[in-house]
Amino acid sequence: MAESMQGLKRTHRCAEVTKADIGTTVTLMGWVQKRRNLGSLIFVDLRDRSGLMQIVFDENDIGAEGFAKAGSVRSEYVLAVVGNVEKRSGAVNEKMATGELEIRATALRILSEAETPPFPIEENSQTKEELRLKYRYLDLRRPDIQRNLMVKSRVATLSRNFMAEQGFLEIETPMLGKSTPEGARDYLVPSRIYPGSFFALPQSPQLFKQLLMCSGYDRYFQIARCFRDEDLRADRQPEFTQMDMELSFVDVDDVIQVNEKLLKHLWKEILGINLQTPFRRMTWREAMDRFGSDKPDLRFGMELHNVSEVVKDCGFGVFTGALQAGGSVRGINVKGQAGMPRKKIDALVDFVKGYGLKGLAYLAVLEDGAYKSSFAKFMTPQELDALVKTMEGEPGDLLLFAADKDKLALETMGALRCELARRLELIDNSKFEFLWVVEFPLLEYSEEEGRFTAMHHPFTMPMEEDLQYLDSDPGRVRAKAYDIVLNGCEIGGGSVRIHQNDIQEKMFECLGFTKEQAQEQFSFLLSAFKYGVPPHAGLAYGLDRVVMLMLGLDSIRDVIAFPKVKDSSCLMTQAPAPVSKKQLEELGLAVPEAE
Ligand code: AMO
Ligand code: AMP
Repeated sequence: MAESMQGLKRTHRCAEVTKADIGTTVTLMGWVQKRRNLGSLIFVDLRDRSGLMQIVFDENDIGAEGFAKAGSVRSEYVLAVVGNVEKRSGAVNEKMATGELEIRATALRILSEAETPPFPIEENSQTKEELRLKYRYLDLRRPDIQRNLMVKSRVATLSRNFMAEQGFLEIETPMLGKSTPEGARDYLVPSRIYPGSFFALPQSPQLFKQLLMCSGYDRYFQIARCFRDEDLRADRQPEFTQMDMELSFVDVDDVIQVNEKLLKHLWKEILGINLQTPFRRMTWREAMDRFGSDKPDLRFGMELHNVSEVVKDCGFGVFTGALQAGGSVRGINVKGQAGMPRKKIDALVDFVKGYGLKGLAYLAVLEDGAYKSSFAKFMTPQELDALVKTMEGEPGDLLLFAADKDKLALETMGALRCELARRLELIDNSKFEFLWVVEFPLLEYSEEEGRFTAMHHPFTMPMEEDLQYLDSDPGRVRAKAYDIVLNGCEIGGGSVRIHQNDIQEKMFECLGFTKEQAQEQFSFLLSAFKYGVPPHAGLAYGLDRVVMLMLGLDSIRDVIAFPKVKDSSCLMTQAPAPVSKKQLEELGLAVPEAE
């Protein structure tokens, strides 16, 4: 029978009781982690969000009725316990923060009984994620998830305070809005008043924060929920949280400076780590050439080499063919792996094929200096020597090569580099390698759409020295855009914005918008810009990603209280779900009957 807590007041959380409290009476409330009956004594580990405390029930202290009650409790019952803090009578538990203490109970109430949970509530759960997410309210009781969410809460609080100190104003922007241009698919909300019309949930507060700059708020900050209907991965959710900011009268360096300060502050306060600033910076071009990625993981080496020049006249058709078609040949040197068995090399070939590459060429430099290679027979010894030299190959090294269109060759080798580092355990997980990637291309040619699209978004400012190419060679124009990368993950990105109408118009032209289309979609922004707009720039972090990496986790699902699964559904609430006919009628919607 569930009892009330009337007349009782919790004095401490379980793990907040310390040695200084020995000899005092405390009242704790929490969940039963474990109960053990030892004849004349009953031990209960009581749990709340702070941790565990051992409670001892002795009939001499609590009386026969209380002792019987204690004997009836089971895992996950909710208890209120009054008792005296004592030094542990039995063995000290060094694994427990309160392992030297126990509470000798003088009163017990069962506030709530509990059915046996479908999986044990414990750290490092071995339970399948589907089951955990179905019963997320139980999963959220586990200490590791609780710690994750507590850190996330601290990151949010610290950021808010820091940003306020730096003169940022926290301002909310609408959830019900118009489609925003971040490039993903929108989540739409039908309007009841205007049947056939829809709000779009924001992919980011981008346009509103730019308008706030037009309105003179100068420095804006928001912890904002964003929605993107895109394929999910470990670091992507359909709704996620941005730590979003925008600043007036600034350029790239100003944004970078504030953000280095912010990250330094967070790492110091939460992890006690002193990050060295300024962080490294690399242009997008350099990142692609050296790492085959616009978000390089700098925790290990194995950089890419461009060997196009050395192989351009060789006899290996795979290489020369790719070069003649305008592509490139990129290699990586896997140190000390010359002896990699054929099976494992084949697995790497399968890996690159997954990226669309037709194959992977290899050359092992054996300990005696001889070569073992899939293509040696097509090259002269001199050509092979020159290639190995360019690759800085030494006896014991395994050289891998991709020949294809430049983008594909680079991206595949970039991915292979990371995959090999994982397989060969080359990554030092204790490191935090921050990097600014700057000077992104402004535009990216989409084969699918047959036109240029904005690499960041259409309001990103071209670099002044490249403005001259906007007409003649748009693909060459670099942008005042930057990403902040941590350990190979993009944790944030932003740009300086266009504040001049003529450049904005030109940009829309490059993107294939007609004047009318641009007006229709962004008229409020374009017209706001006619009334005096300050130069402005900003950045947004994926807050979930920041916390995930801070805690060394592999998935943002572990830092989101109620995440969605791969198909964007919620296993706990079963959302999305059909709605009643009446609701559909009110919204003027009809759903085709399923066949
Ligand atoms: P961007 O689209 O780069 O920029 O997004 C900013 C950051 O948000 C995170 N992020 C995500 N996190 C989890 N799940 C997702 N589906 C997801 N998508 C993005 C990433 C990313 O770096 N308005 C601009 C910012 C600006 O220009 O100021 C924007 O949204 O960590
Ligand atoms: P093939 O001529 O198809 O038998 O290939 C000869 C060698 O080149 C094999 O080791 C293939 O794996 C490799 N190869 C094929 N296509 C590529 C490519 N695009 N880049 C690098 N190596 C390749």
